Amino acid sequence: MHYLMGLDISTTGAKALIIDEAGAVIANANAPQPISQPKPLWSEQNPSDWWDGISASIRQALLQSGLRGDDISSIGLTGQMHGLVLLDAKGEVLRPSILWNDQRTQAQCDYMTEVIGADRLLELTGNPAVTGFTAPKILWVRDNEPDIYAKIDQILLPKDYIRFMLSTDYATDLAGASGTSLLNVAERAWSDEVLDALEIPREWLPPVHEGTDFTATVSGEAADLTGLSNGTAIVGGGGDQAAGAIGMGCVTPDVIGVTVGTSGVVFAPLSSYAFEPEGRLHAFCHAVPDTWHFMGVMLSAAGSLQWYKDSFAPELDFDALLAEADEVAAGSEGLFFLPYLTGERTPHPDPLARGAFIGMTSRHNRGHMTRAVLEGVAFGLKDSFTLIDQAGLPDEFEVRISGGGAKSPIWQRIIADVLAAPLVNINTTEGGAFGAAILASVAAGVFKDAAVACAAMIQEGETVAVGDDVAAYAERYKIYQSLYPTLKDTFARL
Ligand code: XUL
Repeated sequence: MHYLMGLDISTTGAKALIIDEAGAVIANANAPQPISQPKPLWSEQNPSDWWDGISASIRQALLQSGLRGDDISSIGLTGQMHGLVLLDAKGEVLRPSILWNDQRTQAQCDYMTEVIGADRLLELTGNPAVTGFTAPKILWVRDNEPDIYAKIDQILLPKDYIRFMLSTDYATDLAGASGTSLLNVAERAWSDEVLDALEIPREWLPPVHEGTDFTATVSGEAADLTGLSNGTAIVGGGGDQAAGAIGMGCVTPDVIGVTVGTSGVVFAPLSSYAFEPEGRLHAFCHAVPDTWHFMGVMLSAAGSLQWYKDSFAPELDFDALLAEADEVAAGSEGLFFLPYLTGERTPHPDPLARGAFIGMTSRHNRGHMTRAVLEGVAFGLKDSFTLIDQAGLPDEFEVRISGGGAKSPIWQRIIADVLAAPLVNINTTEGGAFGAAILASVAAGVFKDAAVACAAMIQEGETVAVGDDVAAYAERYKIYQSLYPTLKDTFARL
């Protein structure tokens, strides 16, 4: 029996997962991660916290499993995308990591668009300049912290810092690298044209690998600290969305993934490179070798519901809160919620966008407001789904759903009706760490490729059918779509 380890450095926790080759979870340990918002729009974490957290989780997972380090065939890495980790020539961290949900870099995005040209940037990197991506963060450090900029020797993504600490090697994967704005996504290589235009030295960037490539091995020092075995292979892995998609079996264009986590994502695998002509969808390399994907990302999905509950109903548990929403008819009697609590990416890349309740009357109560939040997030997912549909979905496809928010039956019903698509549940809820372990299994030769591995390890569960509210939601969606354009200028003035 092969045992595979998936490590996930998410924004909220550092998780170590061990599965066997049948996909059964053998152990799962998670160390919560602190996050700091030192100024409005800023979001940072300390790489040393990730390392402390993941090494504790690895020790814990090995203990839980009763396995020894040398029972682990290989290790896959995943984690939050886009975050900037800066190291000096000694491999020391130069400043806290600036994260994916940090919104400080609009001026640097404008600069990138100007020097490279909007069309060329889109063609090369698959995406416009986006505040959350890595390149504008590098330019922000250049513009605001020149002393730190002068000491940069290496730039890594969060999970690649863990690879470095486990192995002393610098490397990244193509799916993660796609979120930097520095990759030529069609050619699956760093873009010299973009690097030259931004005057970022290529030697600051690590070599890029496919998700199933071997990239490094666990060092003696890391083995002593974690209980892993010296020499265990570490594979490329993938950014959390690509790895999460593999963990749901989204490896071919006929399986679309919807994830309702803190962020909300619609993920569509592609067998050849394409980009959305207006750059409203992300176009990235997939972690499955030689494939790509479209992705729409809304920044606050389950994050909206969490904020709403914490702020207005901290005394209720989620089940009680959602039961009130279930009493309310589809459409929340004309009440809308805009989920732009931390700005937005898809389809409105706007760090200044704000959340809103619109259409309140004295008839509305907490149940209506809760339902409006669930519906607003579903409409946000529909925005991404519609763009993917316009870019070209195959004639036949299925939609799989996962993420913490997907545990709620009422939310699943609303999303199925808003998307007008049945939602297929799957047997695993381990997300990106599971996908990273699947990539590790392919690299270890347990399976021929990711599709075969997914077929062996992931089973379909209950399907949530499309219900009676499809027509009502289609009408409501038209109103929802009109709200952001109407309020955009007001948001900017706020
Ligand atoms: C993807 C994205 C998030 C982060 C954090 O583009 O920004 O999914 O990776 O989870």
